[in-house]
This record gives sequence, structure tokens and C-alpha cells, in this order.
Amino acid sequence: MQVVNSSDFVRDAVKRIAEASFAAAGGPFRLALCGGQTPRAIYEALAAEDLDWRNFIITFGDERCVPPDHSDSNYRMACESLLARVPIPEENILRLKGEMPPEEAANIYERELRQRSGDEVFSHDLILLGMGEDGHTASLFPATSAIGESDRWVVANEVAELATCRLTFTFTLINAARRVLFLVKGERKRELVEGIARGNGHNYPAAMVRPHEGSLLWLVG
Ligand code: 6PG
Repeated sequence: MQVVNSSDFVRDAVKRIAEASFAAAGGPFRLALCGGQTPRAIYEALAAEDLDWRNFIITFGDERCVPPDHSDSNYRMACESLLARVPIPEENILRLKGEMPPEEAANIYERELRQRSGDEVFSHDLILLGMGEDGHTASLFPATSAIGESDRWVVANEVAELATCRLTFTFTLINAARRVLFLVKGERKRELVEGIARGNGHNYPAAMVRPHEGSLLWLVG
């Protein structure tokens, strides 16, 4: 795994996302957005870039089980900071429907991805991921059922510690990506990343992200 400690985190993240989009060379650029707070400033800076937005296909690595206008919604955060500011065709934004019954929302989303990729696992050009201080990524939290899921691409995942359900990509979908970029900020998380890089992943879910053929970069700010 490649780790880059960045002194200009937002700029470096934007640069790498833009470079990945250029590699799509005019074809569809399948980009999975991550949630939480870290990416907001990155998305706002990304929105100012002159990219081939019409070629972007946006997915979401996870979503809270709330309506799209809820303050906890990852979709809402992405809309406010990026999607409402760039000309990505509406039909290219594949929203995880947090307002629906979770299992149904996960099944519908997976069906939509399968329709676009046939029998092959849907391969993103770039998946953005964050990491929590417990080592979770997307909504793959330690000791939750989604960790062991290998057939499904998208599942509803009961997270007892949060007393809630989340919608999330599984490792099967994540590890099929051409590129995975972790966006991680803060001293505590920096220490976690150093531990994972040394092989002391302590079974953190984030340490289980190992793209089969794709690249993996941890950008630490
Ligand atoms: C979510 C995210 C989650 C997030 C980490 C880090 O829905 O919360 O997908 O995996 O990336 O929890 O969140 P922060 O960036 O807020 O620290």
C-alpha cells in the first residue's frame, strides 16, 4: 500500500481525482464518493475544476438510512459540496436510497450496478474511501455482518455500536476497483494508517481493502 503524507491535503486529493478522470480518456468515469466530513472541502475544491463532468458516473460507497435531505445524508453532503455545482447528468448520479427499507434499497442498487456491468463485477475507475478511528471504512464496521459478505456488492449492514443500519459497498465491489484512494485526516488516523502499513491492521476493515488488480493509495493530511 502506498501512503502519501500531504501538506496540502485538499489540493493533492483534487489532483489525484482529476488525474484519474483524465485516464478515462473521454469514456465514462465511474467514481464512488465517500461520506463523512473529511471529503467536503475536497468536493468543494473539485467542483471548481474544469473536468469532463458529462462523463462522470457517480456512485456512493455507503449511505445512512435517512432521506436525501437529512443532515446525516452522504448524498446531501455531496450535493451541497459538489453535485449541485457541476454539470453531471442527473441520470449518471446513482443515489443509494436511504429513505427506503435498507434491504430493498441495497438490492435495487446492486441490480442497477449489475445492469451496467453484466456478469463481471462492476469496476469503478476510482473509489474514494474514508476511515473511522475504529478502522471502519465505507460502512464496513468491525464485527458486522457485511465484513464477511463475498457474493453481494451492496448490502444493508446492522451497526450495533451506532444502533442503526447502514447501506454499504462490500469488499467484493471495493476490491474490483481500478483505483482506491483513502482520504484520511488527523493525527490519530495517521497513527492507524502507519500501523496498517506495518502490517498491524488489527483486522481493521480498512486494512482489508486490497484491490485485486487496481492501485491503492492512502492520502494522509
Ligand atoms: C460515513 C463514511 C465513513 C467515513 C468515516 C470517516 O458514511 O460516515 O462513509 O466511512 O468515511 O467515518 O468520517 P470523517 O471523514 O467524518 O472522519
